[in-house]
Amino acid sequence: MNHVDYLRISLIDRCNFRCQYCMPEGAELDYILKQQLLTDKELLTLIKEVFIPVGFTRFRLTGGEPLLRPHVVHLVEEIASLPQTQDLSMTTNGFLLAPIAQSLYDAGLRRINISLDSLEPDTFDQIIGNHGRGRWQQVWDSIQVAYNVGFDPLKLNVVVIPGVNDHEITNLAALTIDKQWHVRFIEFMPIGNAHLFSDRGWIPSQEIRQLIRERWGLTESQVRGNGPADVFKIPGAKGTLGFISQMSECFCDRCNRMRLSADGWLRPCLLNETGQIDFKTALRCGVSTASLQEQVRRLLAIKPEINFKQRDKGNTEGVYTRTMSQIGG
Ligand code: GTP
Ligand code: 5AD
Ligand code: SF4
Repeated sequence: MNHVDYLRISLIDRCNFRCQYCMPEGAELDYILKQQLLTDKELLTLIKEVFIPVGFTRFRLTGGEPLLRPHVVHLVEEIASLPQTQDLSMTTNGFLLAPIAQSLYDAGLRRINISLDSLEPDTFDQIIGNHGRGRWQQVWDSIQVAYNVGFDPLKLNVVVIPGVNDHEITNLAALTIDKQWHVRFIEFMPIGNAHLFSDRGWIPSQEIRQLIRERWGLTESQVRGNGPADVFKIPGAKGTLGFISQMSECFCDRCNRMRLSADGWLRPCLLNETGQIDFKTALRCGVSTASLQEQVRRLLAIKPEINFKQRDKGNTEGVYTRTMSQIGG
């Protein structure tokens, strides 16, 4: 059985973008009410008294957009300073990053993944749902700031959407040549209402690799991370290229993670909500952390059967009920 020690913690379900693959325009989301969010204290109690004792040592802060969470720097500091924390990272859209990048680094965050689906401001606006101009530039500036502050590895996530940004694959890959940036191509996943965005399906990582191989060649490589990416590099490049192939390959059998939603639900799988535990209600009803540890252990024991399987693709009962922004990617 796979060792599950990686917890993706959603700090907030809200986002300042509306990436169409994630929360398509027109879709009304029920945001979590403030009083339903785990408080900082509850979250830290769960990490210290439930997750660490059952063996979790690697944490990633996600959203919605995690930088919208009040006191995010404080939370980073608290989690990073725990002796058991072996790895702490964040996945962000980067829009609010530049002014607090240094504080996050000083608080102990050392690596960060930023979404960058396009190098073209207009295409970027189309993907993120047209919030007005200047968003691409602000994200781009944040990436430079994060790089200069010293986040390492600095990863850039690209969801490849046929007919929208697939013409930019080589330009995005080229970013890794001169800078130690790690670009990851993610197969577009028809989750939530994403099918509304692209009726052309998704592009297999194999095809993307072939395109890059024809242009520059490609060799196997490595970069620090806990995720499912297969890592390569353009020969001689400073950074790497990662491929996250959730549609064409099934990596569920090597799944090493669980997810904690911003309102305190522990979910064993991105795509299957079976067995989830409501920690917020338990904590607020005074259930002991020892008993919560036991519940996590039980969930860990049945996780291999819950894990989404390629063969389940036709059977969507109990899955696909949430958008990525609500689950934290
Ligand atoms: P590293 O620790 O840097 O390797 O991070 P990561 O790749 O785990 O994190 P990130 O938040 O950047 O996730 C990148 C993408 O991987 C997400 O957008 C998802 O599309 C995909 N992904 C992450 N976890 C899972 C998972 O459990 N199942 C599936 N199907 N896809 C996942
Ligand atoms: N398919 C693939 N990746 C997605 N993400 C959000 N929605 C989708 C989707 N439908 C990615 C974001 C971000 C991460 C948290 O999840 O691009 O990199
Ligand atoms: Fe927000 Fe990230 Fe979803 Fe885009 S992918 S809408 S940035 S949560």
